[in-house]
Amino acid sequence: MLSNVKLVDGDIVVRDISLDDCNQTYVSWLKNTNVNQFLETRWVEQDVDTIKSFVKGQIESNNNYLFAITIKCSDQYKHIGNIKIGGINPHHHYSEISYFIGDESYHGKGIATKAIELVSDFAFKKLGVHRIQASFYEENIATQKALEKAGYVYEGVWHERCISPITNKYSNVKVYYKLSSM
Ligand SMILES: CC(C)(COP(=O)(O)OP(=O)(O)OC[C@H]1O[C@@H](n2cnc3c(N)ncnc32)[C@H](O)[C@@H]1OP(=O)(O)O)[C@@H](O)C(=O)NCCC(=O)NCCS
Repeated sequence: MLSNVKLVDGDIVVRDISLDDCNQTYVSWLKNTNVNQFLETRWVEQDVDTIKSFVKGQIESNNNYLFAITIKCSDQYKHIGNIKIGGINPHHHYSEISYFIGDESYHGKGIATKAIELVSDFAFKKLGVHRIQASFYEENIATQKALEKAGYVYEGVWHERCISPITNKYSNVKVYYKLSSM
């Protein structure tokens, strides 16, 4: 769903994604094992067509908001990753958040933390969302830290729900959440 907004924090702008963002750079992110090891997109061979099809589906859906994370570089804004508020339930007002910074050179600079804060705030204030949930492979320390810095709290664990890409053994998925009242 298009929201036609720009969410700004310093040099970071989170904006609606478009089909023009679906290029070889985006494909290269999803093929990078350092980026895709914790993403379910890795199970499907990705190319510009698969990405366009995904993005088109998100834009046309009525309960998903997919955004591009961009950062100011000279006079331009460079697309470096995506963030999504998805699966918004119209009756109970819960949703899920997911994201990646595709350009590895921007990891560890606090960008995901800021994008999570911006998009969560948007969902609470503009979309009427009450609860946002994030779930992730327990080995994914970077996402856990980013969520905690963005005010999400630990809720629990789904035991042995996935096969870890690190150990190749059954592994836990952690669940974090944030409420509009927090
Ligand atoms: C998870 C991800 C989005 C985090 O993005 P980011 O912009 O680097 O996150 P931030 O810089 O805001 O915060 C990450 C924190 O984790 C820390 N960190 C990263 N890797 C770590 C590791 N292996 N062990 C401990 N801490 C780690 C960073 O230093 C930073 O903490 P700090 O601010 O205290 O130094 C990014 O690593 C990514 O895109 N990973 C691949 C895709 C993915 O896993 N997406 C999430 C699926 S749930």
